[in-house]
Amino acid sequence: MKEKISAIRIQFKSELETLKDSKEVENLKLRFFGKKGVFAELMGLLRECTPEMRPEMGGQINSLKEELSALCDQALEGFHKAELSRRLLEEKIDITLPGRTSFLGKKHPIIQTIDELLEIFKEMGFSVQYGPDVDSDYYNYEGLNFPADHPARDMQDTFYISADQLLRSHTSNTQLRVMEANQPPIRIVAPGTVFRNEDISARSHVFFHQIEGLYIDREVSFADLISTMQEMWNRFFHRNIETRFRPSFFPFVEPGLEVDIRCINCEGKGCRLCKESGWLEVAGAGMVHPEVLKNGGIDPEEYSGYAWGLGIERLAMLRYGVKDIRLFAENDFRFLAGF
Ligand code: PHE
Repeated sequence: MKEKISAIRIQFKSELETLKDSKEVENLKLRFFGKKGVFAELMGLLRECTPEMRPEMGGQINSLKEELSALCDQALEGFHKAELSRRLLEEKIDITLPGRTSFLGKKHPIIQTIDELLEIFKEMGFSVQYGPDVDSDYYNYEGLNFPADHPARDMQDTFYISADQLLRSHTSNTQLRVMEANQPPIRIVAPGTVFRNEDISARSHVFFHQIEGLYIDREVSFADLISTMQEMWNRFFHRNIETRFRPSFFPFVEPGLEVDIRCINCEGKGCRLCKESGWLEVAGAGMVHPEVLKNGGIDPEEYSGYAWGLGIERLAMLRYGVKDIRLFAENDFRFLAGF
C-alpha cells in the first residue's frame, strides 16, 4: 500500500510536468480525483488493509490527495494567467482600423426649403396654417372664382376622387378656409403638397409642394405685395434680388401677377437655366378678388388683401442646381445625402 502511494505521487508529478494547458490539467484531475479515479480506487483498497493499518494508510492517502490537488491548483493558476494574456494579445482591437460609417437621418431637401421659408415668413409676421390635401371642388376651384368650364378643372389636370372630392391642385384651397375661420387682419402662410395630373418629366411631376401666402386687412395695397415679395427673396437668397412682375391671370386674384427674379445663375446675362431670358419665374401672386373675399365672409368694401403661391421644388432646384424634379421624389440616398 505504501509503495502504491509513493508510486502514485511520482506518476502524478511526472505527468503534471508534461501538461501544456489548463484543459489537460482538468483532465488529469478527473483521472486522479474523479469518481472512478485513482484515489477512489485507492480508497477501495483500504478495505483490504488490516484494521490497525487503516487509519494510518487513510491519513497518508488524504495528505497525498491534498498535496497533489494543491499542485494542480498551482499549475492551473499558471496556465490561466498565460492563457488570459495570450487571449488579450490575440483579441486586441486594432483601433486604427476605420470604423463602419453610420448614417444619421436628416430632413428631405424639400422639407428643409419649406422650413427655411417658414422661418423667414414667421420673422415677417406671418403665422402658419394647414389646409387638407383632399378637398372639395368648392375650396379648390368654385369658391375661388374658377368658372365651371375653366381648363384647370378638367380631368386632365386634376385628380378627382369623386364628382366633388379632389386632390388639391394648389395650396390656394387654404384661402377660403382661413377667411371663414378668421376676421382680418389675416396674415398667414400655408405650406403643403399639391397634385396635378401631368406627365412626369424632368420639369414636372404629379405632386409637388407650395407655400401659399395670404394677407388681408384694411388698406392692403399692391405696393405691400410687391415689397413683401421683394423682401422674402432677399432673405431667402441672402442678397439683394431684383424682381419683375408681369400681368397674368388667376381667377381668384385681380390683378394677377407672375413673379420673376433675376437669374441667380447668370445675373441676367442669359444662360441655360433662365433659357437665355435673364429671368426666372418663381411665383404666382395678386390682389385677392372681391368675389373671393365675399365667399370667405369678408366685406370687400372694407378690406383688401394679397395672395401668392410659391413652388418649392422649383426654388430648391434653382438654389441647389438640381436639374431633374423627379430626384426629389425618388428617395435615392446618393442624391439625398448631398444636402
Ligand atoms: N395657386 C396658383 C398656382 O398654383 C398660384 C397663386 C397663388 C396665384 C395665389 C395667385 C395667388 O399656380
